[in-house]
Amino acid sequence: MKRRDFIYLGLSTFGTTKILSQLYTKPSLKSQARAKGLIYGSSVQASYLLEDKEFAHKFVSECAILTPENELKWHRVHPNPDRFNFKDADFLVEFTQKNNLLMRGHTLIWHDSTPRWIKEIVDRKKGESVLINHIETVVGRYKGLIHSWDVVNEAIYLTDGNKGGLRHSHWLYLLGKDYIDLAFRVASEADPQALLVYNDHDLVYDIPPHQEKQKKVLKLLEWLKAKGTPIHALGIQAHLISNNAYFNAKKFRQFLADVASLGLKIMITEMDVSDMGLAFFYGTRDQVVADIYSSFLGVALDEPNVIAVITWGLSDRYTWLSEFRPRKDGTYIRPLPLDANLKPKLAWHSIIKAFDNATQR
Ligand code: XIL
Repeated sequence: MKRRDFIYLGLSTFGTTKILSQLYTKPSLKSQARAKGLIYGSSVQASYLLEDKEFAHKFVSECAILTPENELKWHRVHPNPDRFNFKDADFLVEFTQKNNLLMRGHTLIWHDSTPRWIKEIVDRKKGESVLINHIETVVGRYKGLIHSWDVVNEAIYLTDGNKGGLRHSHWLYLLGKDYIDLAFRVASEADPQALLVYNDHDLVYDIPPHQEKQKKVLKLLEWLKAKGTPIHALGIQAHLISNNAYFNAKKFRQFLADVASLGLKIMITEMDVSDMGLAFFYGTRDQVVADIYSSFLGVALDEPNVIAVITWGLSDRYTWLSEFRPRKDGTYIRPLPLDANLKPKLAWHSIIKAFDNATQR
């Protein structure tokens, strides 16, 4: 049957526009996620959207939510004590408004984006007022426009050897563990509608550092809940490797269930799959990467409290991994759903299938 007959049949038999729109709407990551009450999106940098119209167009057709890759980090919006700079963040927020996308806030407190001037503060009271002012100003500026804020990012770091596994950040030094609670409270006051998230990495595999970190994160979340801290979700970054031998579905499922039992939602916030160690041939490489998307999302989306899947980039054209996890042979890396020509790869199909197989939220 030709496409035109098909449409005609749809109209004459059922006369519904739904049939027509189903025929015309190409499946996208966002449409398949939305069908299950899930949200799909990606991180992006303002410059990619400004300078690459083809990419911007694709971004809007595949994504329902946008995470600013760097534009809301402390060193970008508040580089000096008396200067805020919201130019790039404003552009991204406007972009989401114009294109009917949700916007994420990433991230308020992260050791890696703490500017030098903060590290020079030694007075506790001063530190506290700087933290409060920063969060009030940044969250307040976009009040009502942000779906979810990564309030604190990567506060657990076992290597530092601190009690509770806490990272030895400048905020811990200045304010003790309570800085985490304080950050959430100030964010909640500044935007009561936003979902407030604790975000972290190395929580996926069945290896001692990840298993230990899961325990420490659970303890932190329990402590926050017991204190009445306004925290609503855990963000699991999910920067995955191409070797699935360390993925234990049963254990990961249990971790998700433990988080959910605290009354928290879960967001997969930064998913990508490094193809660093894989052989050159694209076919095999893409298949391995796609299989990892499948096995991870198959388990993650089985947990009803998982509400969103966000990849750290949409297309291999723009990925932080080309700098952070380059291939030894120097060829393009392929960790994301679309290739560098913006064409869907096997990974894209894996994610679509995982959404299709997910239970309705
Ligand atoms: C990364 C960005 O992708 C890079 O462009 C930047 O140079 C460093 O930060 N975990 C996070 C993200 O929470 O903010 C990081 O983003 C990647 C790891």
